[in-house]
Amino acid sequence: MRIIVVENYDEMSKKAALMIASQVMLKPDSVLGLATGDTPSGMYKELINLYGKKEVDFKEVRTFNLDEYYGLDRENSQSYYKYMMTNLFDNININTENINMPDGMAKDVNAFCDLYENKIKTLGGIDMQVLGIGGNGHIGFNEPNVNFEAQTHLVELDEQTIEANSRFFESIEDVPVKAISMGIKTIMNSKKIILLANGLNKADAIERAVKGKINPSIPASILQLHNDVTIIIDKDAASKL
Ligand code: F6R
Repeated sequence: MRIIVVENYDEMSKKAALMIASQVMLKPDSVLGLATGDTPSGMYKELINLYGKKEVDFKEVRTFNLDEYYGLDRENSQSYYKYMMTNLFDNININTENINMPDGMAKDVNAFCDLYENKIKTLGGIDMQVLGIGGNGHIGFNEPNVNFEAQTHLVELDEQTIEANSRFFESIEDVPVKAISMGIKTIMNSKKIILLANGLNKADAIERAVKGKINPSIPASILQLHNDVTIIIDKDAASKL
C-alpha cells in the first residue's frame, strides 16, 4: 500500500484526478471503477476541469460504478445514477454506451449481477478502481462481516451506513435498506485501486483498514493483500496512523 497524506480535501481531490487522467492518457480505453458519495465529488470536479483544458479525453473510456441503491429509480434525485450524471458524465465527453451502473430496479437481481460481472470480465477487467470508505470500514456497500469471496450482489445496508447516508434524504425512513454492490472479489480483481478519505470521522476506519488485522469486520482491511493500492488521505483521516 502506498499512503499519500495531503493537507486537505482539495489536494486529495487534485491528486486523485491526476492519477485518473494519467491512467486515461496511458490507456485511452481504460476501464474505470467509480464511487459516489461526498469523498469523490471534488475529484470529479477536477476531472471536469482537466477535460475543459483538453488535458484528458474520455471518448473511449468505459466505466463501472461500485453500487446503486436497490429500489430507487434512476431518475430519483438520490440515485447514484443521478449523482454520476450530474457530478461527472453530463460534463465530459464520455460515450453514454460506455457507462455501466448497477440497476437498482432490476427484476432478476441475480441475473443482473451475473451480467455486470461478465461485462467487466469481457472488457478485460477494471484498470483503475476508485474507492471511498465508510466510517464502519465498508468499501462499495460491502458491510462489516463481509464475505471476501463475493462478487456483485444484493446487500443489506448496515445501520451505521443508513444513518450516515440519511444526510442525503429527507428522513432516515427514506434511505433504502438494500443496494446492489460490487463484491470484494470484484474490487480485488481491479488492476489498480485508489482509496480516498478525508475528515476525522474516517480516521478510525483508516487506522483499522491499514494497520489492523485483515478481518471481515473491517472490509477495507482486505486491501492490504492487493499489490497496487494507493491511499490518498488528508491529515485528519491520517491522524491515527
Ligand atoms: C459509494 C460507496 C461507499 C462510499 C462510502 C463513503 O459509491 O461505495 O463505499 O464510498 O460510504 O461515503 P462518503 O464519501 O459520502 O463519506
